[in-house]
Amino acid sequence: MKRIILILLVFIASQVSAQDAKMNAFISGLMAKMTLEEKIGQLNLITPGWGIPTGSVVSTDVEGKIKSGKVGGMFGVIGAEKVRQAQDMAVKSTRLKIPLMFGSDVIHGHKTIFPIPLGISCSWDTALIRHSAIVAAEEATADGLNWVFSPMVDVSRDPRWGRVSEGSGEDPFLGSQIAASMVKGYQGASLADKKTVLACVKHFALYGAAEGGRDYNSVDINRTRMYNDYLSPYKAAVDAGVATIMTSFNDIDGVPATGNKWLLSDLLRRDWKFNGMIVSDYTSVNEMSNHRLGNLQEVSAMAIRAGLDMDMVGEGFLTTLKKSLEEKRISLADIDRACRKVLEAKYKAGLFDDPYRYIDESRKSEILTQAKRDFARSIATQSFVLLKNTNNTLPIKKSQRIALVGPLANDRSNMLGTWAVSGDPQLSVPVMEGLMKQTSSSVNIAYAKGANLTDDSVLAKQANVFGMRAEIDKRTPAAMLEEALAIARSSDVVVAVVGEASEMSGEAASRSDITLPPSQVKLIHALYATGKPVVLVIMSGRPLALTNVVDGASSILQTWHAGIEAGNAIADVLYGVVNPSGKLSMSFPYSVGQVPVYHSQKTTGRPMDPNNKFSTKYLDVPNGPLYPFGFGLSYTQFSYSDIRLSANSMNATGSITATVTLTNTGFRDGAEVVQLYIEDKVRSITPPAKELKGFQKVFLKAGEAKTISFTIDVNLLKFWNSELKHVAEPGAFEVWIGGSSAEVKTAGFTLMK
Ligand code: NOJ
Repeated sequence: MKRIILILLVFIASQVSAQDAKMNAFISGLMAKMTLEEKIGQLNLITPGWGIPTGSVVSTDVEGKIKSGKVGGMFGVIGAEKVRQAQDMAVKSTRLKIPLMFGSDVIHGHKTIFPIPLGISCSWDTALIRHSAIVAAEEATADGLNWVFSPMVDVSRDPRWGRVSEGSGEDPFLGSQIAASMVKGYQGASLADKKTVLACVKHFALYGAAEGGRDYNSVDINRTRMYNDYLSPYKAAVDAGVATIMTSFNDIDGVPATGNKWLLSDLLRRDWKFNGMIVSDYTSVNEMSNHRLGNLQEVSAMAIRAGLDMDMVGEGFLTTLKKSLEEKRISLADIDRACRKVLEAKYKAGLFDDPYRYIDESRKSEILTQAKRDFARSIATQSFVLLKNTNNTLPIKKSQRIALVGPLANDRSNMLGTWAVSGDPQLSVPVMEGLMKQTSSSVNIAYAKGANLTDDSVLAKQANVFGMRAEIDKRTPAAMLEEALAIARSSDVVVAVVGEASEMSGEAASRSDITLPPSQVKLIHALYATGKPVVLVIMSGRPLALTNVVDGASSILQTWHAGIEAGNAIADVLYGVVNPSGKLSMSFPYSVGQVPVYHSQKTTGRPMDPNNKFSTKYLDVPNGPLYPFGFGLSYTQFSYSDIRLSANSMNATGSITATVTLTNTGFRDGAEVVQLYIEDKVRSITPPAKELKGFQKVFLKAGEAKTISFTIDVNLLKFWNSELKHVAEPGAFEVWIGGSSAEVKTAGFTLMK
C-alpha cells in the first residue's frame, strides 16, 4: 500500500512539474517578445473610468491604456458584456494580445449575498463555508470574473475596528481552518475551470491589529505574538494553494506592508514558499509617501524591490519604474519577476488558452437562482448566535401576537451588510416580510419603527455614504416611541430588531463607542417597562457592548448582517423551524474599556483574584467578556461527560486521544460545536491561558448521545519560541473540552522528554 501511495505521489509530482515546465516555457517565450513598457503595463491593476460604462471614475483613459498595453488587470467591471468589451480591447488591440484578468470584491457572495464573514465564521462549519465559496465562485464567473479579493483572514481582537465584519474573528486556529476552506472552495480542483476563480488572501499582514481599532492605523506587534497569534491564517491560505495575496495598508516594524521586504520576500516567499502573485491594496504603494517613506518614485521602487508584483490603482509602477531602472534604483530582474508572476496567474486561470473562458453571456441564468438564494437562507440560519433565552421565550409560537419594532425590523437597505459591492439591497428580504410569510394571518404581527437607527445626524451621514442606510424619520422620536409602545402593550411578545446600519462597520468605519446608539437604547428600555417579554434581534457588523440592554431582555439573537435572505432566515430561527447552533468567533465585551478582550489572554504574573487588590483587574468591570468566544445557546441542551484520555503521557512521536460523550438532553434535535482547548502549564515564553486546538460540529437528535474524540499530537502543542522556532516543550498540559471557551471539562497529561 505504502509503495502504491509513493508511486502515486511521484507520478503526481512529475505531472505538476511537467505542467510548471510548460507554463515556464510559455511565459519565457512571451516575455522574450515583450518590451520594457509592456512588462510594466502588466503590473498595472486599474478600476474603470471613462471608456467603460460601469464603476466609479477612478483610473483615467482606461480604454487608451488597455489598448496600448498599459494594463494587466481590472476590477469593478461586472457583467459578461462589460468584461467582454474590455477583454476585446486587450486581445484585439494590443501588440501581444495578452488577456486581462478581472477581479472583484466578492467577499460574502457575489450577487446572492450571504451573511457577513464574521457571521459565517460563527457557523464553525468548514464544509458549509467551503461550499459558500464554491457558490460565490460559480456566480462570479457567470458574471465574467476570474479573480476574487477574498478571503479576508485578518485576526482581530478589537471590535472597534469596523473591518472585523469581513473576517473570522479573534482566533488564529479557527481563522486558519476557515481560510483554507475558502481558498479551496474558490479555486476548486483546477484554476482553469470555468467555474473557479483565483482567490486573493488579504490583508497581508496584521491589518486587524490597528492601534486603537482605528482603520489604517499603525500596527506594532512583537514577533512571538505575530507568529503565534496573527500569521497562521495567511499561512493556512498559502498552504491551501491560494493564487494571489494582497498586502495591507499598515506598517510592520515601521515599514508599510506593501514595501516590506522582510514580509514579502523573506517570510512569504522564502519561508512559506508562496509562488503566486502579490498585489498591493488600493493605492497602498502611493500611500507609502503619506507614511513618509519618500516620493512616488522612491516608494514604488521600494515596493517592487520588496517583492510586490502588481500595483492596484495608484499607477506608481506604471509611471516611475522605467525611470528607476534607468537610474539603477531597481533591476530588470525585479520587473521580470513581477511580470512573470502576473502572467503566471493569468496562465493558471486558463486565460492564455481562451481569454473569453469566463465570458459567457448565457450563464446569466446561474446568477441569483432560487437554489443560490435557498443556500443563502440556510447559511444565514447557521451564522446566528443565540445569546440569551430565558423561559424559552424563543422559539415563538405562530399563534402568538408579535409586536415587531425597531429601526431594522422592516428594512431592506441594511440586510446585505458591508462589502456587498455587487449586491442589490432591493432584492433582500426584511424581517417583517420573512415573519409574515410564515404566519397564516398577518393580524398576528403589528409593526412600528419605534426609533431611528441613530438620531445623530453626523453618524447617520457617515452611514449613508453608499445610499440611504440610516434614515432619520420625519416624525419626532417621542411619536415613534409612543406608536411602538402601543403595539407592544397589546402583544404577547415583542421582537425588537435593533443594531447597526451596514456601513457602521466595514472599511473606514471604526467606532470608539460600540454600544447601541442612544435612540435605540431608549426604545429598548421603554419596551422592557411594558412588562412584555422582549426578544432582541441584533444586527451588527461587530460584537457590540450590550451590557446596558442585556438584563431586561428575555432573549437575544445575534444575527449580524445576514444577507439577501436575512428576513426569511431570521423567521426560520424565531419560529423554531431551524434550531440555532452558531457560536461566537469573537468575544463580546462588557465595555469598550476592556478591549482587547479575547479568550486566549495571558494570565499575567499577578493573576486575577477578587480578594487581592494587587492582582490584574478592573475596578469597574470583570476581566472576562460579557459573552465569551465559542459561546452560543440552542433551543435544546447538551451535556458533556468528563474527559477520558487514552494515556496520561505521550512522547514527541506519539499521540493521545481525548474523548467525551456528548448528550442532547433536551427535547429538540440540534447541533453543537464541541471545542478542544489546550493549556500549556509551563513554557519558555508566557503562554495564553488556553488555546483553541480543535472543534467538531455535531448534530444530535433529541435524547441522542455521541462519543466525540480528538487526537492530540505534538503538532498541536507547538508554539513559536523567542528564537522563532516552532517547538513543543516537554511538561504538563491541560486539555479542555466544552461548548464554549468558558464552560469546559478538563484533564491533564504530560509531554515526555
Ligand atoms: C481596499 C480594501 O482594503 C480591500 O479589501 C479591497 O479588496 C480593495 N480596496 C479593492 O476594492
